[in-house]
Amino acid sequence: MGTLIKGGKVVSAAGTKLADVLIEGETIARVASGIDAAGYKVVDAAGMLVMPGGIDVHTHLDMPFGGTVSADDYEWGTRAAAIGGTTMVIDFALQSMGHPMTEAFKTWRAKSEGKACIDYALHMAVTDLGPNDAWLDDVDAMVAEGISSFKIFMAYPNVLMVNDATIFKLMQRTAKLGALVCVHAENGTVIDVVVQQALAAGKTGPLYHALTRPVKAEAEAVHRVVAISEMAGGASVYIVHVSCEEAMHEVKAARERGLPVMGETCTQYLVLSIEDDMGKPGFEDAKYVFTPPLREKKNQAPLWEAVRDNVLQVVSTDHCPFRFADQKTLGLESFTKIPNGGPGIENRMQLAYHHGVNEGRMSLERFVEVTAEAPAKIFGMYPRKGVLAAGSDADIVIWDPKAKYTIKAATQNMHTDYSIFEGFKVKGNARQVFSRGELVVEGGKFLGAVGRGRYVHREVTGR
Ligand code: URP
Ligand code: ZN
Ligand code: ZN
Repeated sequence: MGTLIKGGKVVSAAGTKLADVLIEGETIARVASGIDAAGYKVVDAAGMLVMPGGIDVHTHLDMPFGGTVSADDYEWGTRAAAIGGTTMVIDFALQSMGHPMTEAFKTWRAKSEGKACIDYALHMAVTDLGPNDAWLDDVDAMVAEGISSFKIFMAYPNVLMVNDATIFKLMQRTAKLGALVCVHAENGTVIDVVVQQALAAGKTGPLYHALTRPVKAEAEAVHRVVAISEMAGGASVYIVHVSCEEAMHEVKAARERGLPVMGETCTQYLVLSIEDDMGKPGFEDAKYVFTPPLREKKNQAPLWEAVRDNVLQVVSTDHCPFRFADQKTLGLESFTKIPNGGPGIENRMQLAYHHGVNEGRMSLERFVEVTAEAPAKIFGMYPRKGVLAAGSDADIVIWDPKAKYTIKAATQNMHTDYSIFEGFKVKGNARQVFSRGELVVEGGKFLGAVGRGRYVHREVTGR
């Protein structure tokens, strides 16, 4: 029996209309007003918003990093995502130096298979082009496996950072293939010197993680990587976790020159700041050690405007959770040993909706665009994902715009012993979530089977 979601306001980037959504099997059969309910299981959506499920394109589940492993595996992370209204994630397979990308692909498929609660895809984080650049051919092999986006780190020297030559060669290949390069843009070499100087001066507390990573280091890296992409034949670039106005301006300038440059920011940079959230007593600040770091509050308004005006196309989370008690405390002696990252996969939709739509910083349609539709388009999954249309996967959120919710570690589903958004009060929350036609969340509870999530093969978009 099909399911008919009746009487809700159906939202897309193009507009909002009162309509019914008919699900048959795993896909949407029709979106129209006044669909006859006879023979269908009816879900009353009167007063609700009916939206494509959120797509979080920047997560780090079960990731070895900073001497430990991120606290949410594929089961916990994707369950928390679903409860928050997200029906798909794109996570990162991390190539180990000295090993081919094909190996990383296998490793990450094994981590996710049988565990993911919603659909997922992978970017490939490239760290090594191999002997005589032989692993550049892995890029083609990865595209054939449905990985249409590659990630490079311009930060984290000796761990993940690649040099400009590697970036250039990778981009020459992706430009040919029409694949996308996602970039963690920070000048890791200069930051490393600033960090060593801070440590030598006895500045070892968590606040110095933020103070040793200036906005200029981020803006410079964006500028440089855009120039490299031009020299490499116009490779498409997506700057991840843009955290400050200066870096955002580099993205804007590139787009104004007509270059295929896109970018995202993350919820933490939109609602948290160095003034409000750092400088807490003891070691509390370690909870907010992620990279790029929190910035001065004055960056928030320009970032929101960039999201509204399509300078930045996506709001993601960079969900990379570490527990406080036994993981963040690895850095008690030195901020350089604090695992970098924070939890957020569960709260992205709530925070972007409340602080974005309710507080007048973006329209409802733009909210759907930056949380679902643009991610699907940019990352090669549209119109299968990211839109409510006949033939699309029935990944649907029934959103109660009046539901009030207070974010608390005590009630969250992410496996951290704190929330970076503790006490935030939001209005608007997922009431029901469907993943490929199956009701997987109702009343804040996950109802689906662990491992039901499927790997999504993505297409290149840049040809
Ligand atoms: O602090 C962060 N962001 N950790 C995850 C790795 C990255 O840089 O995205
Ligand atoms: Zn990063
Ligand atoms: Zn990240």
